[in-house]
Amino acid sequence: ILKIIVANNAGFCFGVKQAMNKTINTIGNTNNKKVYTYGPLIHNDQVIEKLESMGISAIKNVKDAKDNIMIIRSHGVSLKIYDLSNENNIEIIDATCPFVRNVQKIVKEYYDKDYGIVIVGNPNHPEVIGINGWCNNNAYIVQELKDIDIIKNCEKICVVAQTTITLELWNSVVKKLEEKVEVLKKFNTICTATKERQESCAEVAKQVDAMIVIGGYHSSNTQKLVQISKKYCPNTYHIEIAEELPIVQLKNLNKIGVTAGASTPDWIIKEAIEKMNNMEKENNSMMDMMEEIEN
Ligand code: F3S
Repeated sequence: ILKIIVANNAGFCFGVKQAMNKTINTIGNTNNKKVYTYGPLIHNDQVIEKLESMGISAIKNVKDAKDNIMIIRSHGVSLKIYDLSNENNIEIIDATCPFVRNVQKIVKEYYDKDYGIVIVGNPNHPEVIGINGWCNNNAYIVQELKDIDIIKNCEKICVVAQTTITLELWNSVVKKLEEKVEVLKKFNTICTATKERQESCAEVAKQVDAMIVIGGYHSSNTQKLVQISKKYCPNTYHIEIAEELPIVQLKNLNKIGVTAGASTPDWIIKEAIEKMNNMEKENNSMMDMMEEIEN
């Protein structure tokens, strides 16, 4: 009998779930206004297509939402975007993840107290661009150790982390800053959702005959799950949708593990599980038929 083991912490994290819920709840409460998201709500083509079919599309320019409704996604945005929305009579639905909001608030508080701000993270990531917009875009963005050299005024520094960086990077940056800075306020703002998802993936991969990792082919956190999974279970398959399940390879296996990237919605995970359960049923009825013929 086929056993399907789904990893804990598979799929949407808390912040993305909340953003999706807020978006869905907007429908029907629009007062005939149009609904936009500032940037794609999540990096998942199937979800974006669904939202578009419901009339919700992503925009790059705030002014495109003039007099309408604009959803701020879980990554958050700079303070300037709120001002611009106000000026353009845009109603904001704010789905900034509370963990990201916490980072934004810390940055603003310490910037106002004349601290230099250091954000450890990727300067091109929307979350980091947003956080920097809470200190007038004056933060030093540190992506690797050598970036610390550009920090000039080292009297008072407040350092925060992009929520998805690794603890290794955080620790090494803080260590180097401690040597250089006189007063250092450090806030480890790494979110544990990513780490927990990766640990659950490894745990399941260790016990199964094959592992299915569901998520966008371009999603970096999904690719990371594939890598981790392969380490413990070479029989790992990366799929985006249930139709891509490698049925032939999965047939006759006893234990199949399932996990999913941070932007994979539950309905795609459920579809894949259902398809595997059906494959099992088909298998059984084939076996019954064979037995009948033999008898
Ligand atoms: Fe998700 Fe919020 Fe953490 S968006 S990864 S729960 S910071």
